[in-house]
Amino acid sequence: MLIDFHSHILPGIDDGSRSIEESIAILDTMAQDGVKLVVATPHFYCHDISAEKFLIRRDMAFEELRPYLKPEHPKILLGAEVLYSSRLASEPLLEKLCIQGTNYLLLEMPYVRLTNNLIDGVEELTDLNRVSIIIAHIERYLHFTAYSDLEDLMSLDVVGQLNSKSFSERRSRKNCLKLIKQGYAHILGTDFHRIDRGDLPLSYGYDIISSKISPEEADLMVACSEMIIKNADIDKIILMRE
Ligand SMILES: [Fe+2]
Repeated sequence: MLIDFHSHILPGIDDGSRSIEESIAILDTMAQDGVKLVVATPHFYCHDISAEKFLIRRDMAFEELRPYLKPEHPKILLGAEVLYSSRLASEPLLEKLCIQGTNYLLLEMPYVRLTNNLIDGVEELTDLNRVSIIIAHIERYLHFTAYSDLEDLMSLDVVGQLNSKSFSERRSRKNCLKLIKQGYAHILGTDFHRIDRGDLPLSYGYDIISSKISPEEADLMVACSEMIIKNADIDKIILMRE
């Protein structure tokens, strides 16, 4: 089952879809691509808004969209793309920011070098055992940090998500394939923002993984995706990729 773990499809809540019409157009594209489940992950910045207010806004955006959804659209699970902050460890509503029905949290790292301080902060979050962490679009941090820094982050008890679009450019495709082969990347997402931004469908990434690595590798990532949605233990998912 194709599951898109990263999207900005809820209307008017972040820098993603600006209207119900645009959300529907994006969902039409996803349906045509064969996506069965999509996680709506609007940006959550704890310095800008309280988690409580964010969750109310997110749920309202979904309720606005809901009457326009078509039977062929992928089922939507609510989640968030949570920007890392040292404050998250003490956020009382942290669990509520997880992907609906799971304790998996999509965590976005700041776009700076991944320092020991940042990596230690993520480790502290995992050690709390409140949530299991998915690092969002792990390949993107390589614009800001050394591969070895990213390896240090991904060696924690976390899983990694790649953006389908990152498979389209030669250099970032190479990085994505390397991250998969080294066991750091487990799932895909489109990170779909706007209908005209050039975001690529989920199957684009899977097709490249199938042809450049192997169909079995793509199947393994689909299997990891299904396990996360079933809220399987993160250790089991990490073991599958090792
Ligand atoms: Fe995103």
